Parts: sequence; C-alpha cells; structure tokens
Amino acid sequence: MTLPGPLNPPSRLLMGPGPINADPRVLRAMSTPLVGQYDPFMTRSMNEVMELYRRVFVTGNRQTLLIDSTARGGIEAALVSVLEPGDKVLVPVMGRFGHLLVEIAQRCGAEVHTVEAPWGQVAPYELIADAMAKVQPKVLAVVHGDTSTTVVQPFDGLGELCDRYGTLLYADVTASIGGNEFLTDAWGVDIATGGLQKCLGGPSGSAPATFSARAEGIINARKSIEAGIRDEGDAVAAHPIRSNYFDMSMVFDYWSERRLNHHTEATTMLYAARESARIVLEEGLGAFQARHALHGRAMMEGVRGLGLEVFGDVEHKMTNVVGVVIPEGVHGEAVRTRMLEDFGIEIGTSFGPLAGKVWRIGTMGYNARQDAVLTTLAALEAVLRREGFGLPAGGGVDEAYRVYAEAA
Ligand SMILES: Cc1ncc(COP(=O)(O)O)c(C=O)c1O
Repeated sequence: MTLPGPLNPPSRLLMGPGPINADPRVLRAMSTPLVGQYDPFMTRSMNEVMELYRRVFVTGNRQTLLIDSTARGGIEAALVSVLEPGDKVLVPVMGRFGHLLVEIAQRCGAEVHTVEAPWGQVAPYELIADAMAKVQPKVLAVVHGDTSTTVVQPFDGLGELCDRYGTLLYADVTASIGGNEFLTDAWGVDIATGGLQKCLGGPSGSAPATFSARAEGIINARKSIEAGIRDEGDAVAAHPIRSNYFDMSMVFDYWSERRLNHHTEATTMLYAARESARIVLEEGLGAFQARHALHGRAMMEGVRGLGLEVFGDVEHKMTNVVGVVIPEGVHGEAVRTRMLEDFGIEIGTSFGPLAGKVWRIGTMGYNARQDAVLTTLAALEAVLRREGFGLPAGGGVDEAYRVYAEAA
C-alpha cells in the first residue's frame, strides 16, 4: 500500500456552530514542547489552568479543571460521578443536547424525568418549578446554550429551586461559555462542563469543568481509588463510580497536591486550554462577550437583510449562533456544498425536527470578527442567487455594516 501523503488540510472559514477555526495563538501553544507528567512546569501549568478557568466560570470552586475528552465526555464525567442507579434526574428538553443529557443519565441507571419545550424555545420557569416540586430530583441537568436550536436557557431562579429541594444544579455550557454570560456561583450552579471548540476558540478535545464544594463532597463520598495506586487507609466505596476514566474523585486527586497518577494528562490540550482562557481574560470576559454579541447581531441582521427568516426565539438567542430558515424551494445541502466548495466557507446543517429546514451560522471565538461576518454574508448571497433564489443585492452586507456603524 502506498503511504498517504503529508497532511495538508484545505483552508476553510468555519462559520458553523462549532468547531470553528482555532485561534492561531492556541495552535502555536499546541506546538510547544511536551514535558513529563510531574515536571514542575506541568504541575504549575495545571494550577494556572485551574485559576484561569475559575475566572472564565466566575467561580471560587477549588475543583475547576480540565476533563480530557470532548465536551460530551465532560457531561458524562459529571453525571456518572454524581448519579447512582435509581437516583432521580430532571432534564428540560428543548433540543438535541437535552436529549443527550437524558441519554447519558439513563445510561448511569438514573430515573430520568423530563419537561419539554419546542425546539427553538426556552423551557418556562414555571414548567421546571412544577416538575421540581413533583420529582424532587438529586440533579437538575440543564443545557445552557443549545447549539442545535441556537437558544440560551435562562437560569434565573434555578439555583434557589435546587436549594429548596437539596438538588444539584448541573449546566452544559459547551456552546455558551465565554461568549454568553454565565455566572457559576451567583446562579447557584454546582457543576458546569464545557468544551474548547466554540467561543473559547480552541480545538475540540478538552472539557473545562467546575464543581462546587457540595458536588465535590457527593463525588468524594464515592471515592474508590484503583488497586494499583491505592495507599493504605484509602477508602473503597461501597457504590463506586461506574466509570474509571470519568471517576471525578480520582481526577480531583490528580489535580490536587496529591497528584494521584490517574490518567496521563493530555499535555497539548492543556496548553490549548490555557491559551484559550488567556485570550478570553486578556480581552476581559465582559468585552469578550460584548464582541460575541456584536458580531452575532451583525450576522443576524445581515441574514434578515438578505430577506431570510431567523429561526427560533430571538429574544433568547445565543450571541454566537444564528438559525436561518431555509427558504421554500431552496435545497439546503446544495447551498452548503457550494459555500464550501466555491468559497471555502462551512455553515452548519441541523438535526432532528430541524433537519433540512434550518442552517446554523456561528460567529464565535476567533471567528467573531467583522471580516468573517461580511465574507460569509457576501458568499451566502452569491450562492443563493446561483441556486435561483432572488434576493436583495448587497442586503446582507449592508445590514451588517449598519450594525457595525451603529456600534462604533
Ligand atoms: C451544547 C452542547 N453540548 C455538548 C456538545 C458535544 O460536544 P463534543 O462534540 O465536543 O463532545 C455540543 C457540541 O456541539 C454542544 O453544542
């Protein structure tokens, strides 16, 4: 067999719902030398990452660290570490990732209850409050920003509700963290897990996460250190966490002074996550969010300027993704293919009930930029016209320019 040639990926502008083009600073950090697991540089970098992400999550939580996995693994680590078979979980489902929380909680053996809202809408507080009173779950698991629908779920009152019933509040912030307001401590969130490949401007493969002292206590009560690294006196729980890799009690020990040798930390991803957080905090969390809001608004008004309809509850839209209703008679996949092949621009498709009906266009992380927004709108106009859809010439770019002029 002949060897495949050297890796030479095409140049793309990734304007889908994530992954996006990683910030060149992150890519540079990833090409720096590896060090050993217990090298003082490595352990210092781990501590720095904890401190950086406390600021990104706006929390004082000691257990703020990276889970070596894509964002889905972060969710799984959180849920499998707190849930025992038979525990009750409540999940508001209004998009693909609510379904994912249900699926993961079920696989943990939990008794899962749901409240549902149509895709593109938020779950009303009253609906969640009623279900909380009835179910009184161990965990309320909520997707904050659901990229499948572009909508951000308000957390107002959820922390108080959870306090009332002794419930842990879990948030999936993969798609929202950095680019949308998220206040872990102020909102009473016990566990939040994210991913690098959206607003944080890195590649997928690391899940920054934070755990409150209350969550840490529940998880550590299930601690069962594996035999080969166990010290005399180490507890062996009667009901250990059902996953070894995602056993957060051992991962906590790895990230603590104890430096328990659980897995081998993914050094290059740690470098990436460290640089991602530095980029956010250097700009300032507020300014970073404002930049996402500005470019997201410019993209949304640009889409409207092309005569296209924006999908979902716009009042609750995430800053960083817009859903675009595919017009009657237009073949959504043909447009996406032309965008990619003719312009090198990727926009997103949709899942479930929205498949074939909605495109999703992201403006996040490194790509929350004016040139990326204008280029995408100009290309979309050209492609739609080529696909036979008549639309106002220059309407998209003009509307985006208007938003930028008003903000200047
Ligand atoms: C809200 C949300 N949760 C979870 C995930 C899963 O992330 P990953 O593909 O990194 O596992 C995504 C990915 O798009 C997401 O948007």
